[in-house]
Amino acid sequence: MIRKYTFGTPLPTDAVVMRLPVQSGPVPYFDVRNGEDGSVSFSLALHPEEVIFGLGQAVRGVDKRGHRYESWNSDVFNHTESQPSLYGSHNFIIFFSPERMLGVFLDEPGRIIWDLGYTRCDEAVITSVSGCLDLFLIEEDSLTGIAHAFRGLTGRSYLPPRWAFGYIQSRWGYASEQEIRTVVSEHRKRHIPLDAVCLDIDYMVDFKNFTWKPDAFPDLRQFQSEMKEDHLRLVPIIDAGIKVEEGYAPYDTGKAGDFFCKKEDGSDFVAAVWPGRCCFPDFLREDARRWFGDLYRPLLEAGIEGFWNDMNEPALFYSDEGLADAFATADRIRAGGVDYEETWWLKDAFNGMANNPEDYRRFYHLVGGKPVRHDRVHNLYGAGMTKATAEGFRRFSPGERLLLFSRSSYIGAHRDGGIWQGDNFSWWSHLKMAVQMLPGLNLCGFLYTGCDLGGFGCDVTEDLLERFLQLGVFTPLMRNHSALHTREQEIYRFSSWETMRDTVSVRYALLPYLYSEFMKAALRDGMYFRPLVFDYPGDPRAVHIQDQLMLGEGCMIAPVYEQNAAGRYVYLPEDMLMIRFRSGQDYDLVPLEKGDHWIPFAPGEFPLFVKKNRAVLLCSGGESSELLDDARFTVLGQIERESVYELYRDDGRTAAPDLENSLTKVVLSPSASLQTVRDIP
Ligand code: NOJ
Repeated sequence: MIRKYTFGTPLPTDAVVMRLPVQSGPVPYFDVRNGEDGSVSFSLALHPEEVIFGLGQAVRGVDKRGHRYESWNSDVFNHTESQPSLYGSHNFIIFFSPERMLGVFLDEPGRIIWDLGYTRCDEAVITSVSGCLDLFLIEEDSLTGIAHAFRGLTGRSYLPPRWAFGYIQSRWGYASEQEIRTVVSEHRKRHIPLDAVCLDIDYMVDFKNFTWKPDAFPDLRQFQSEMKEDHLRLVPIIDAGIKVEEGYAPYDTGKAGDFFCKKEDGSDFVAAVWPGRCCFPDFLREDARRWFGDLYRPLLEAGIEGFWNDMNEPALFYSDEGLADAFATADRIRAGGVDYEETWWLKDAFNGMANNPEDYRRFYHLVGGKPVRHDRVHNLYGAGMTKATAEGFRRFSPGERLLLFSRSSYIGAHRDGGIWQGDNFSWWSHLKMAVQMLPGLNLCGFLYTGCDLGGFGCDVTEDLLERFLQLGVFTPLMRNHSALHTREQEIYRFSSWETMRDTVSVRYALLPYLYSEFMKAALRDGMYFRPLVFDYPGDPRAVHIQDQLMLGEGCMIAPVYEQNAAGRYVYLPEDMLMIRFRSGQDYDLVPLEKGDHWIPFAPGEFPLFVKKNRAVLLCSGGESSELLDDARFTVLGQIERESVYELYRDDGRTAAPDLENSLTKVVLSPSASLQTVRDIP
């Protein structure tokens, strides 16, 4: 059951696809308080055993209790534990205790503060700063039921094309076609599977969106078409800001259509990002979205089938006003004499220019024809860009699924694209954080997701990259990405590249199976990754497991995320079969009993646990998702009673998949053998 309550005058967000009547009368569960500043707070006493799931892209554990978070989309370079917000606002949580199971969604694009047992460990207080919102309460008799109902409320998750489940290589710094050809051939000659290469901002002329360097990429169409013959796709980046430059078509047409966000005086708001001074498309306007979406057309016509959208919180390095203020501060300090304390102010004045809250109050959007200050709708900006792009894709190729993943997001954007987890570091703690973020993202509808494998910032080590890849085998987006000036991070740079290649080979052996699990989860409004307790609600141990996740219908993952670990502890909530992988062809099959186990995992080894009477399918085949044999499988499982596995297969690209007609029922008969080879035509 879903109940809706409205406070103040909420702004449209497009997050919800279901029409519900607004309830009158008091809100159950919560004490509602109106602040003198116009805010509204919802507080609730926490049961000692209460856990809190959700919030999507947020730091810390699977259970969010005990900390204070904020919904405020931010360009965050360092994901520390104290970071209140990251790039997306995913305002959905579930309270779960012996006394309660309650989903809570706040549909409001301004700042929200989630004090989840922080100020008082026995109380949760959720505050909407604007005081205007739609509040949805979801009650069902299971956690998966709440997740399912929430997806019903907010709509079906985005479906990427099947090739997007292949391994993707990316790096900020790939500056030419030649460099990318080298990256590809280094993979191909070592038989490291690869499906796509991302182009970061270096492919553009002066970092200007929708341009590509004519010398470095003389014929993009030809290049993409040659790559495609080798079963590879190029995935270019697009940023939110449009460089202010007369004669540059996106700027001229944006200006002619008056599509940029405005300051109070009616002039265009300008702030610097990679290309220098930029204007910012007003993605909240339908006509501006149409204009922006059409800008992708030349790249689509050149054969590009996927994009990643970046810097769309929006990230602002500095505004004209912010820069002037910082110089004024510097002048004041110089005139007054500099001592050590002043140098701190001086540094702060310049460091504070980026993503300055003042700047987010300097510009306006048009919502329903009326100006709305940006900070009121801040968390919608990236979602608006996703929508503009997806609408453009649908106009250009209505029958096809194209790849799109964004950095910034809001619930609702999960219908149009995936997201990546942003600028993590090559840190072991960030590997663990990536694991812990996945179920929250799935709960909020973002199924197509993954982290920068190896870590974006800092220099990776071989063992860390290998363990990151082991997680990446299971994440729908499996992309190795790293920042300019960091250690080169392509698999072939490392002495243990064969081990890493074998790890990627597991992804390819599992690809039809993982794709099947993903598509069923998406089309049935379910979750691909879940906290353990979603499957084992009565198990008091499962509730508190923070570093293992259920995957698909029948599996569990338990990644190794500690340096020099020779194995790890794993809790099995029931008897399971462990597949300890070394490659797509080389693995151990070990039945294990319910309970705690310490299990050795040598550097190139990692597990997938399979419930009894469930199966995992391995295929054989090539180095691209298009070269896999998905008609003959090795079926792995401990089958004690006759069961059925539903294998989802389609052409991997249709925009209108037909779930029932895409399922093949694979009968699993009781057998003493843990693996059988099956033809599944
Ligand atoms: C920030 C993004 O998060 C990162 O992935 C990208 O490489 C840089 N921008 C440069 O475009």
